[in-house]
Amino acid sequence: MNPTREPDLGTPASISEESVEVEIDGLPARVKAGSTILRAARESGVDIPKLCATDSLKPFGSCRLCLVEIDGRSGYPASCTTPVEPGMKIHTQTEALARLRRNVMELYISDHPLDCLTCSANGDCELQDVAGAVGLREVRYGFDGENHLDADIDTSNPYFSFDPSKCIVCSRCVRACDEVQGTFALTIEGRGFASKVSASASESFIDSECVSCGACIQACPTATLMEKSIIDNGQPEHSVLTTCAYCGVGCSFRADMKGDQVVRMTPWKDGGANHGHSCVKGRFAFGYATHPDRILEPMLRENIHDPWRTVSWEEAIQYTAQRFAGIQEKHGRKAIGGITSSRCSIEEVYVVQKLVRAAFGNNNVDTCARVCHSPTGYGLKQTLGTSAGTQPFGSVQDADVMLLIGANPTDGHPVFASQMKRAMRNGAKLIVMDPRKIDLVRSPHFEAAYHLPLLPGTNVPMINALAQVAIKERLIDEEYVRERCDVESFDAWKEQILRPENSPEMVAEISGVPADDIRGAAKLYASANNAAIYYGLGVSEHSQGSTMVMGMANLAMATGNLGRSGVGISPLRGQNNVQGSCDMGSFPHELPGYRPVQDDEVRGKFESLWGVKIDAEPGYRIPNMFDAAIAGDFKGMYIQGEDVAQSDPDTQHVEEALSGLECLVVQDLFLNETAKFAHVFLPGTTFLEKNGTFINAERRINRVRPVMKPRQGMDEWRITQELSRAMGYPMDYEDEAEVMDEIAVLTPTFAGVSFKLLDEAGSIQWPCNEKAPLGTPIMHVGSFVRGKGLFIETDYVPTKERTSRKFPLLLTTGRTLTQYNVGAQTRRTPNTVWYKEDLLEIHPHDAETRGINDGERVSLTSRKGDITLEAKITARVQPGVVYTTFHDPETGANVVTTEYSDWATSCPEYKVTAVQVAPAIHRSHWQEGFEKRTKEQEKLLETS
Ligand code: SF4
Ligand code: SF4
Ligand code: SF4
Ligand code: FES
Repeated sequence: MNPTREPDLGTPASISEESVEVEIDGLPARVKAGSTILRAARESGVDIPKLCATDSLKPFGSCRLCLVEIDGRSGYPASCTTPVEPGMKIHTQTEALARLRRNVMELYISDHPLDCLTCSANGDCELQDVAGAVGLREVRYGFDGENHLDADIDTSNPYFSFDPSKCIVCSRCVRACDEVQGTFALTIEGRGFASKVSASASESFIDSECVSCGACIQACPTATLMEKSIIDNGQPEHSVLTTCAYCGVGCSFRADMKGDQVVRMTPWKDGGANHGHSCVKGRFAFGYATHPDRILEPMLRENIHDPWRTVSWEEAIQYTAQRFAGIQEKHGRKAIGGITSSRCSIEEVYVVQKLVRAAFGNNNVDTCARVCHSPTGYGLKQTLGTSAGTQPFGSVQDADVMLLIGANPTDGHPVFASQMKRAMRNGAKLIVMDPRKIDLVRSPHFEAAYHLPLLPGTNVPMINALAQVAIKERLIDEEYVRERCDVESFDAWKEQILRPENSPEMVAEISGVPADDIRGAAKLYASANNAAIYYGLGVSEHSQGSTMVMGMANLAMATGNLGRSGVGISPLRGQNNVQGSCDMGSFPHELPGYRPVQDDEVRGKFESLWGVKIDAEPGYRIPNMFDAAIAGDFKGMYIQGEDVAQSDPDTQHVEEALSGLECLVVQDLFLNETAKFAHVFLPGTTFLEKNGTFINAERRINRVRPVMKPRQGMDEWRITQELSRAMGYPMDYEDEAEVMDEIAVLTPTFAGVSFKLLDEAGSIQWPCNEKAPLGTPIMHVGSFVRGKGLFIETDYVPTKERTSRKFPLLLTTGRTLTQYNVGAQTRRTPNTVWYKEDLLEIHPHDAETRGINDGERVSLTSRKGDITLEAKITARVQPGVVYTTFHDPETGANVVTTEYSDWATSCPEYKVTAVQVAPAIHRSHWQEGFEKRTKEQEKLLETS
């Protein structure tokens, strides 16, 4: 077996805590009760041959290779389906068994190409291994009869191929697609000799329901399903354990390497978040790391209309430091600031916020979480005491009811979606609160108990109505509230919730959801033994985002659904390190660990270790930076790994702000939209070059390890460190572990964290300190972090963004499975096969009244601007609501989004924009300008 393969123990581990004594091949063995004989034997070091079994799937018992003999039992039971019993005497190697196994293998091999030496799976093929293990030396039946050797290979998927001639119909792929991924894209079609694996209704993989998660390839014991990267490059030689750089699920992967080339990303079985599963992005879309568009040398220019000049690191850093110092001299200490990135490691983020506080001398640091989950931090801190989700993902398996709000996990957080589907298969009920009919609402194999398709902007009244039903139906957990919560605040909240405007009938009028459905969903959630809330940006990116987060916390507290497995409130974070970038003091009012910068004692601790005075006044948030830049008070920005010109709302406002800067420094992989306004470009590194940690949505600190040296020659934290030194505040970290050690000293929730501990434990969920040396999977067990849980009243204040005769539709935005955020990475991979450009989903009724046909270009106009894009007519959206993604810079979806934002955190209201849609007559003014700027920048790069 290839050395990069993890051991396969045949069948899943038993969950029993008991053990039993058995005898295997004459030797005593103590094994877990409930184990299969196959697993027990493998755990005891005895390899029983197997083909249809694998430890990620339920036993199936079809191949008849794992047969054993058991004293006192007749016949040859399959060890993969027979559980151990106390005192059992098992024989795995007898002459009879050897003969039987050889016969079975002979049949398999008689219909299998004998091209082992030239097969891409050579050295990593279970069929080959088992043939050797059972001592197969000849095939008596010959190859002349009917066989499958000439079956056509399906190469339609960009990442893997399917060669049916090598298939042994073990059904592992079909079961992986059902049990692990939950897509049910594969079946075994036909019977007996004619049986074969079929994708959907005998379609090619690319046309089938397959979502390219890779689970079937992982499960396949032959070369039938095979990564094209392995076919092209050969088998890997070694692996490096690391973490996916895409979404907040934070899947652990083994980067399988050949020399310094990644040939495969294999999800790690022991990954705390993903348990050996993956999605198309983490599994396959890593090619952007070596894409020719990457900028690998620092560049600068005096003016944004000048050609770029390639310079040395030394010159780029000195130039930046001088420009920033000059700005501060002329415009004051607060005229510059920085933005950290949730795609960077926590060590990189920590060093950037330290640069701003210690070298810039102000608190003008913010992060991209400002525009996604800042209301989560605020709302959960106010009510529960910690700015983070409460549960590990695995907790969903203990949930009886899942309330999913404003999130689309099958696209945004696919590995967690698979875990939700498993919970549903085991009986959990799902309530979806979302304006769109997302896949989890109904698919051929799943159906939500309730879909509440509320109008964008009506989350708060909806959560209030759910709470009112819970109160009126006497489904409040009075004892829990009395013991664990602030009763006075509960009474005030109850009074507010019982007001007539929060009744299902009143809320039905403003949300568009029938009162009976609101009532039914509320009763289902509130009466469950374990009810868990999962939510996404459809909660936070609203003018009342923080109110909604507090509304969910109120409901969970009132119904006793916090502080144990199967319950809780879990934000599904967009980017891999959103939690980490927030934890690391990226907000202008908080030092690492969410501690107020105004607090003298907190500041004192940092000042004494850093040896510098820290400004006590909170700095600018991102929107304040833009406003100040337009006003002429803010002149310099250091932006690490964020493309604000594409991702932030009201693009024309952002562009005006960026144009007003005297020195914009962009540290990133590619010349992105923001770089069009930059004076200095400092090339960054991909996750494959980083050493450090990411923190996922479960507060899980995962190691990310480099598989190659930084391609542009410098670690990102070193770039920041050098800039700090050049600005007169030397930082002297030797390596990333030292940065983590400083974080641990200064941040109570990280007090016990070190690279050494992470390397030993695999991953740790913070808080990790003296009280919890191995971390804290579930928060608020026994009591809330803030002491008593605080209920906060959640009055509904409608957004100022209203529909009108001119703008009668509501636009809401989201993301699609194969693309990620602004698309900078995924658009540079074969994932584009599934995605051409951002589309506008519009309901058939709205399309018809506007004379719009499917696939036609339409103009999308709001009070802020207009763009054109292709229409997709679909009943996934309700009448009156349109939807698009923001992956494509050319579309410019954020040209139309507004300046409205969450009252507490300034998180933009991306999810509600009043718009009009009409057949497009010409390209939009902004898009024409975009094309012109893009061409100009390309020319400036060429002439550099
Ligand atoms: S494709 Fe692979 S996993 Fe699927 S049935 Fe064939 S051999 Fe088994
Ligand atoms: S790649 Fe995933 S979704 Fe596609 S067939 Fe395989 S298991 Fe199913
Ligand atoms: S679910 Fe998220 S973290 Fe996991 S592989 Fe996919 S993108 Fe990466
Ligand atoms: S491994 Fe047990 S029957 Fe196939």
